[in-house]
Amino acid sequence: MKQMINVALPKGRLGEKVLAIFEACGYECPSIHEANRKLIFENQEAGVRYFWVKPSDVPIYVERGAADIGVAGKDILLEYSPDLYELYDLDIGKCRMCVAACRGFRDNTERTLRVATKFPNIAKTFYSKQGRDIDIIKLNGSIEIAPILKMSDVIVDIVETGTTLLENNLEPIETIVPISARLVANKVSYKFKNKEIVRLTQSIKKYCEDNK
Ligand code: PRP
Repeated sequence: MKQMINVALPKGRLGEKVLAIFEACGYECPSIHEANRKLIFENQEAGVRYFWVKPSDVPIYVERGAADIGVAGKDILLEYSPDLYELYDLDIGKCRMCVAACRGFRDNTERTLRVATKFPNIAKTFYSKQGRDIDIIKLNGSIEIAPILKMSDVIVDIVETGTTLLENNLEPIETIVPISARLVANKVSYKFKNKEIVRLTQSIKKYCEDNK
């Protein structure tokens, strides 16, 4: 019987794109397209088992070996620094990690900067390199509200189209890092399922390069 590869897919729009790429590369899974609320699907002939997980949880499943591989945003990888291999930049799910503030905001460097974010580690690393004192306000979503309500001076958040900032009278001040989706692997699986993981990575690379 074929060695199965366990794949953690990020639930949502990015995950649908990722699944389409995997299926185009020969890792089809017809049952995943049936309308139901199941979260685990497999195709023994193709040697693949998919799990839908919350995007920010992908590295946890991969790091702990519940999944051999997965696809996670670089934002999540930078924030949590999981112990895994980053195999390939899929060049999809592209956006940028930015500092943003209310339009016209001027930073008073004499004062501690209040930073609202879902990504405290990325924000701390960014500002510590500048030697800037900050007060992190950790939020879990709708970050843009914090400076509007004067709870924070700036936000550190993902900007994709820029529409959320624009519609809330905020503007990007600085890009911290560009973000895209990465194929990641568990370190032990990479050793023991090396042939399968390398073959899969090569087909995905080829597919992405041919479809650029
Ligand atoms: C993300 C991010 C911004 C928005 C940016 O939020 O936190 O709010 O998308 O996208 P845009 O530049 O295309 O407008 P998400 O949709 O993940 O929801 P959240 O508020 O729960 O973080």
